[in-house]
Amino acid sequence: MNTKDPRFPNLHVLTHPLIQHKLSHMREKDTSTRTFRELLREITLLMGYEITRDLPLTTRTIETPLQTMDAPVIAGRKLAVVPVLRAGIGMSDGLLELIPSARVGHIGVYRDPETLEPVEYMVRLPDLAERTFILCDPMVATGNSAVHAVNVLKKRGVADAQILFLALVAAPEGVQVFQDAHPEVKLYVASLDSHLNEHAYIVPGLGDAGDRIFGTK
Ligand code: URA
Repeated sequence: MNTKDPRFPNLHVLTHPLIQHKLSHMREKDTSTRTFRELLREITLLMGYEITRDLPLTTRTIETPLQTMDAPVIAGRKLAVVPVLRAGIGMSDGLLELIPSARVGHIGVYRDPETLEPVEYMVRLPDLAERTFILCDPMVATGNSAVHAVNVLKKRGVADAQILFLALVAAPEGVQVFQDAHPEVKLYVASLDSHLNEHAYIVPGLGDAGDRIFGTK
């Protein structure tokens, strides 16, 4: 299930009840690190299932114990999962369970606490040819890191249509920034929350996703 917001044509809010239920539990402030991480993995599996539903199929001739058949298999393009460090790692694990043959890239970005602008400290990517990229980062807050991560791919020649961005929670301010920068890139989230506060935290949100995944402060 997928709802659309008329303000944001490239935003897809995945409203499956299991996703929503698990997200509510993640938001609770007393949810332990262990449970938070498990729920994020489970949600990512469910979201990964939804966002891969349009992958093209082809057929391959196989032998069952009874006869030969042309069986459906995923066609053509190879997939890469690219977490935006560090919180994106919490989502890439779930995606790789679903798509174990995907290559993995990493984009390291932190948010300068003064300017709130993204600062890049690492980029490692698999070969780009004929590949579809799933970027992941749980929170789209200001949108600056998400825009930056897409820029990293587009600067290297990856087309908009070959990039999907998967997040858990987004603020409308960040989605607007993302949409203005990359109107053709699909952004999938489990929730579009109310707003950003003065410290650029998403409200109601779930706090600092990296700290909650890794148990840091
Ligand atoms: N990053 C987070 O982890 N949480 C927010 O609310 C905003 C940015």
